[in-house]
Amino acid sequence: MEALSNSKQKKDKRKRRSCRGERNPSHPQRQQKRRKCLLDQSTQEPKSNNAHTPPAPKSSTFLDKMRARLSGGHFRMINEKLYSCSGSDALSFFKKDPALFNTYHAGYQAQMSHWPEQPVDVIIKWLKGRKHSLIVADFGCGDALLARSVKNKVFSIDLVACDPSVIACDMSNTPLSSFSVDVAVFCLSLMGTNFSDYLKEAHRVLRPGGWLLIAEVRSRFDPNNGGADPDMFSKAVQKLGFITSSKDFSNKMFVLFFFQKKEKPRAVTTDIKWPKLKPCMYKRR
Ligand SMILES: C[S@@+](CC[C@H](N)C(=O)[O-])C[C@H]1O[C@@H](n2cnc3c(N)ncnc32)[C@H](O)[C@@H]1O
Repeated sequence: MEALSNSKQKKDKRKRRSCRGERNPSHPQRQQKRRKCLLDQSTQEPKSNNAHTPPAPKSSTFLDKMRARLSGGHFRMINEKLYSCSGSDALSFFKKDPALFNTYHAGYQAQMSHWPEQPVDVIIKWLKGRKHSLIVADFGCGDALLARSVKNKVFSIDLVACDPSVIACDMSNTPLSSFSVDVAVFCLSLMGTNFSDYLKEAHRVLRPGGWLLIAEVRSRFDPNNGGADPDMFSKAVQKLGFITSSKDFSNKMFVLFFFQKKEKPRAVTTDIKWPKLKPCMYKRR
């Protein structure tokens, strides 16, 4: 009996760990798990304890489809809001109704599950190839997958804390000390209209020589389709006090910029011409 309950406990523990994405975080099915995890917390109906309740039909019913359509619409609405307001407005928006954060992330994970490669995985791989002693700040961490996937000390920052390790704030104004971070990461998180303030904050907290990694949706940097000129963006970041290390446009879905903070930073100039970054509108699926 005890052995039985022990094995059940182990099973439950494994299930919880896997839901948090702790086991083999680079596994391709992880996106599904991340999504299920968020749905468990937000939109899924409570499981019935009634043994007589008939099992849910396997094929998706009209009602299921309507529910999915409604939550997809809700996600796109929140997404549009985040791209069209400032960071401080976004913070007030989620403060009024923190549950919207889960709705947003459930929709976001559903969209990302269609991407062949996740930018956060590329960043995780990059970090794993470097010293574990590097201190990382993950600006706009979402479900804080990055922190769970590397050995480094990671400050996870987002508008809402999905777990107690996350610092909930507007990332234009974080509680991190100046020059305290080796790597600042923005993975699809330059959403607010004042995105340049987030980069200024990253410049403040980075030590000289520290890395700035930016992954963004490719269409936002496609000048032929209303996107920003990537060179103009790089020049603006350089003017802020960085050196361009490399750009990676090899992925169909996202672009990656690698910058390093200048060793001898000067006072930040205010006359930087930032390109407008158009919102990323996800497809209806
Ligand atoms: C598209 S999600 C990406 C999440 C995560 N980086 C990933 O790659 O899975 C962008 C995240 O940035 C956060 N975000 C946007 N503006 C923010 C701000 N001003 N301050 C803090 N977090 C912000 C959003 O709440 C959201 O969780």
